[in-house]
Amino acid sequence: MMAAQVIAWAQAPGKIILFGEHAVVYGRPAIAAPLQQVQARAEIFPDETCVVEAVDLGREVLVAQAAADDPLAQVVRLTCAALHQPLPSWRIRVTSQIPMAAGMGSGAAVSTAILRALARAFGKKMTAAEVSAVVYEVEKIYHGSPSGIDNTVIAYEQPVWFVRGQEPEPFVVGKRIHFLVADSGVPSPTREVVEDVNRAWKQDESRYETLFDAAGEIAYQARAAIEQGDVATLGMLMDVNQQVLAEMGVSSPLVERLVRAARNAGALGAKLSGAGRGGNVIALVQPVYAGQIAEAMRKAGAVSVIPTTISPEGR
Ligand code: MEV
Repeated sequence: MMAAQVIAWAQAPGKIILFGEHAVVYGRPAIAAPLQQVQARAEIFPDETCVVEAVDLGREVLVAQAAADDPLAQVVRLTCAALHQPLPSWRIRVTSQIPMAAGMGSGAAVSTAILRALARAFGKKMTAAEVSAVVYEVEKIYHGSPSGIDNTVIAYEQPVWFVRGQEPEPFVVGKRIHFLVADSGVPSPTREVVEDVNRAWKQDESRYETLFDAAGEIAYQARAAIEQGDVATLGMLMDVNQQVLAEMGVSSPLVERLVRAARNAGALGAKLSGAGRGGNVIALVQPVYAGQIAEAMRKAGAVSVIPTTISPEGR
């Protein structure tokens, strides 16, 4: 049998939050960057009906019959609606290199890849803002009340300065800055952790508002350090942000171990990235020490360590 012809395909990267997770839900600024080293991919083939095949999950979703809160069906429906197209008779095959529940934006990346592949197959163009808005609707299914930072950084594919409800601001990166992204292997259930922080905030608003303010202030200083290429200050700010996140109650013994291992092996700074309680830990490194720091984080329990950079060239 001949393999079916691909009508269109597209991909979307993972993401890391550099500064300001959780506080960003409460209106403080945050900084995020795409993680191009891992991608979600969607390929479209002819079929008899509209079906999403999530290869890694072993799931097939018949879009016309799926529940309204099925994220894979919903991104197809919302994309078709945004493009004024009927549901097509296509098979949308999805694969992803992005670990799930690892704080790397796998849900938003899968949605974005599906949306982009559909738009290409229909011969339509969508701006990053339009992509981000559709994916945000699907993010609500996954995460309840997300800030929108994940869909934004993944749709724009560049480091962003993000404030909830506002257009993201791309900003200057003064020089290439190197990070390691260590997956703790422990799922980080974003929805639960965000809800826990919300409960804690309701119980002690003034304490949490102070912590969110501190995270916001760190984000302002971090933006200046990134613009100036001042990695020593940036590393110190990551350490301070980690302290604030621990006080919010979103760190964990494993996260602390990974952070300590990175710093002891020579990282300029390290913190959790994303919702926390697991997920991933990012470390700011000088390239010469990257190997030994990655090794130390693996020894401390990381299941994988991905090197990445942000740079003036944007990649
Ligand atoms: C998740 O990547 C970042 C959080 O701040 C949640 C959100 O912004 O929606 C924890």
